[in-house]
Amino acid sequence: MRSDFGRSVKHFHKSTCWGRGGGAVASVSSVAKSYPRFDLVELGIVPECGELGRCLSARRSERAFREEEITDGQIGAFVYFFQTRSGSEGKLLRVVPSAGGLVSSEVYLIWRRNGEHRLGHVGPVPRVLESMWSVSRSSVEESFRSESWVVNAAMIIVVTGRLGPALRRYGSRGYRFVLLEAGASAMVATLVALDEGLGSCMVGGFSDAALMKLLDLSSEEGEVPLVAVAVGWPESGG
Ligand SMILES: Cc1cc2nc3c(=O)[nH]c(=O)nc-3n(C[C@H](O)[C@H](O)[C@H](O)COP(=O)(O)O)c2cc1C
Repeated sequence: MRSDFGRSVKHFHKSTCWGRGGGAVASVSSVAKSYPRFDLVELGIVPECGELGRCLSARRSERAFREEEITDGQIGAFVYFFQTRSGSEGKLLRVVPSAGGLVSSEVYLIWRRNGEHRLGHVGPVPRVLESMWSVSRSSVEESFRSESWVVNAAMIIVVTGRLGPALRRYGSRGYRFVLLEAGASAMVATLVALDEGLGSCMVGGFSDAALMKLLDLSSEEGEVPLVAVAVGWPESGG
């Protein structure tokens, strides 16, 4: 991060950050890209779904959650699928792929327990969550001011990036890889939520400065919050 590319990527990243009031969001509608000049091939195939297929088919964003908390066992399921574990023949297995095996993303959990918000970090010890400290409801609200429904989620999963190692290995292209890994982590969070009968929604609308402070992130290694996933019991009953 000391070299020029490190500085310029960090500078570029800063230009993507939102402050406490949120960012300017323009009203834009998107049209699916299509190639009408080419032939269409009717496939008519509905895939035979296994468990994963059923999860994928059911995915949609959920923003209205019941008051109910989630169990330690459910939190454990998220932790399990984020962690690296030993497979057969000593091979290390991790659901989320990582460019160069650098593991450029970290996962923090903010979950509601007995009326307060707790903060934890998914560390390296298998099936163990590093339980850090309680955080105030107001600090969570401040972090997600532009998405005020997020504070009512039973758990907020925050995926952060560590830019330093990827930039050192790949130059400025490493920035892409860190974002891609974070996106893969967020998708895994979404799928684990579905498997646990929970609703979820990815959240990019947060205050970077407030969330950095809440998670106590270090700018030394270029730690930055990249995406959050709000998780909880769907109000609609799922
Ligand atoms: C990177 C990313 C950031 C998002 N940020 C937000 C957000 O801040 N607030 C929100 O309500 N939804 C957010 N979403 C969810 C999208 O709005 C949602 O996926 C989209 O409307 C399509 O709806 P569906 O997920 O139900 O298919 C985000 C999705 C992605 C992929």
